[in-house]
Amino acid sequence: MHDPLIDGGVIRKLWISEADLYRDHLLRLDGESRRNRFGGGVSDEFIRSYVNLSTGLDAVTHGFFVDGALRGAGELRPLESGSAAEAEAAFSIEKPWQSHGVGTALLERTLLAARNRGYKLLHMACLAENRRMQQLARKFDAELTFDFGSVVGEVEAPHPTPLSVIREMMEDGHGFATAMLEVQSRLLRTA
Ligand SMILES: CC(C)(COP(=O)(O)OP(=O)(O)OC[C@H]1O[C@@H](n2cnc3c(N)ncnc32)[C@H](O)[C@@H]1OP(=O)(O)O)[C@@H](O)C(=O)NCCC(=O)NCCS
Repeated sequence: MHDPLIDGGVIRKLWISEADLYRDHLLRLDGESRRNRFGGGVSDEFIRSYVNLSTGLDAVTHGFFVDGALRGAGELRPLESGSAAEAEAAFSIEKPWQSHGVGTALLERTLLAARNRGYKLLHMACLAENRRMQQLARKFDAELTFDFGSVVGEVEAPHPTPLSVIREMMEDGHGFATAMLEVQSRLLRTA
């Protein structure tokens, strides 16, 4: 189980009903991060439509929360034009929380989720000048192979194992329990 490295930070899966949190997080990205996330400059309107279209039952998005606010996300979803074994992943972390290991933790969770869903190829659209994302992908060399320009990662295990499924469930349980604590402490604060 992996705890986020920033004090008070929690990683857990987003509920479908939390699409507005995801949209607001993406809208808060600074210009450079937004460009890196979407492979080019995009408008607020684009982001709103993107979230409306991308939030679905088959997407798995892990969120990084600090004091109840979504500050980072790792999105995994099947590739529309690809085979059932292909998915794409994308990461976004708001600037003050970058370079603190959050991307690494989100990629770990995303890889585990990909493995448990039987994805063999994970695509990550990454601009050639995005050194940090490339460094991050390199940390998972054993599990990923990648090209320049757009990163194409290969998930290590072609099939989920009982252990990998249990790991994901345990991490979800941890995230859920912490999410409940967050809700309770918010209720206590407002009481
Ligand atoms: C790219 C991104 C996801 C990386 O997440 P992060 O939390 O900042 O990265 P981490 O702290 O986990 O660092 C990952 C690796 O990147 C490298 N790195 C970290 N900070 C760096 C910096 N300022 N410059 C260059 N490389 C850096 C390191 O090798 C690091 O690994 P290490 O700490 O073990 O040495 C994040 O910065 C981000 O959201 N950027 C904007 C959007 C984006 O680029 N998305 C990717 C397109 S899908």
